[in-house]
Amino acid sequence: DWTPDQFIESTVQELRDLIGNDKVVLGLSGGVDSSVAAMLIHQAIGKNLYCIFVDNGLLRHNEFQSVLDSYQHMGLNVKGVDAKANFYNTLAGLTDPEQKRKAIGRVFIEVFDEEAHQIEDVKWLAQGTIYPDVIESVSVKGPSVTIKSHHNVGGLPDFMKLKVVEPLKSLFKDEVRLVGKTLNIDDLILSRHPFPGPGLAIRIIGDITPQKVHILQQVDHIFISGLRTSGLYNEVWQAGAMLLPVQSVGVMGDERTYENVVALRAVTSVDGMTADWAHLPYEFLADVSNEIINKVKGVNRVVYDISSKPPATIEWE
Ligand code: XMP
Repeated sequence: DWTPDQFIESTVQELRDLIGNDKVVLGLSGGVDSSVAAMLIHQAIGKNLYCIFVDNGLLRHNEFQSVLDSYQHMGLNVKGVDAKANFYNTLAGLTDPEQKRKAIGRVFIEVFDEEAHQIEDVKWLAQGTIYPDVIESVSVKGPSVTIKSHHNVGGLPDFMKLKVVEPLKSLFKDEVRLVGKTLNIDDLILSRHPFPGPGLAIRIIGDITPQKVHILQQVDHIFISGLRTSGLYNEVWQAGAMLLPVQSVGVMGDERTYENVVALRAVTSVDGMTADWAHLPYEFLADVSNEIINKVKGVNRVVYDISSKPPATIEWE
C-alpha cells in the first residue's frame, strides 16, 4: 500500500541518485504542487535547489510576502523576484482574456529565463507536475500558464533545454497534500484553494491597471478572510471576486456615487471540472458585502454569482 512516508523515502533516494551534485532550478507559485515538489527535492539535495518565486503583481493581498516568508521558514533556497512593473507594462491596454493569458505567460518565461541564467552551471529544471496534469486534455480556455505550454517560435528559452525532473508525476492531488503534510509544509499552503496562474488578471474583466488590481485585492481579502474566520474556507473548493467593467449609481449621505461593481464567486466542486455555486449563508454574504462597500474605495455594489459549471465556468474570463 502507498504511504507518504514510503513515497518520500524512496523518492528522495531516487532524486539523490539522479541529480548527484548538479544544480536544479524550480519556479515556486505559492500553490501546493510546486511547494511540495520543492520540499522533496530540498530534502534530497539541499541548497543545490534554487527556487524562484516571481511577483507578477497579480497575486492576492500580501500574498507574495507571506508566502515568501513561509518558504524561507521551510529552509528553501528561494529568490523572490519583483517583476510587477514588467507584467503591468505588458498587460496595459489588453482586454481579450486569451491575449492577457499569453502576455502573462510570455513575461513569466522572460523573467524566469533571466533568473535561471544567473545560476551558474544549472543542469535541471524541476516542476510540480502531478498525474492529472499529465493526462489532462487541452483546456477549452487554451493553455494555462505553465512553463511548458508557452514557448516562443524563435526557439526555446535556455531553461527549457535543461533536463526535467518531476517528482510528483505519479500522484493525485490528495496524495500530494499527504506528502506535503508529512514534510511539515505549512497548512496555509497545503489547504489553499486553487488559484489561476494568471491570477487577478482574469478576474478584472477588461484591461488591467495597478489601481484596479489594488481595488480587487482589497475586496478579495475581505471575502477570503471572512470565509476563514467564519469557518467556511474549507467548505468551498474555490472563492474569489471579479471586478466588473460596470459602474453603478449609489448614494452616500446626500451625494450620488457612480462606482464599480464587484461580483463574489464561491463554488463547491470535487475536481474543478464541474462546480456548483456555494450556498453561503445570507448573514455571511450580508456582512461581507457591507464590509466591502464600507471599506473599499471605488466599490459601491456587490453581487453574488449563482451560476453553476457547466454551463458557466468558475472564472469569468
Ligand atoms: P474554469 O474557469 O475553466 O476554471 O471553470 C477551472 C479551474 O481552472 C482554473 N483556471 C486556470 N488556471 N491558468 C491556470 O493556471 C488559467 O489560465 C486558468 N483559467 C482557469 C480556475 O481558477 C479553476 O480552478
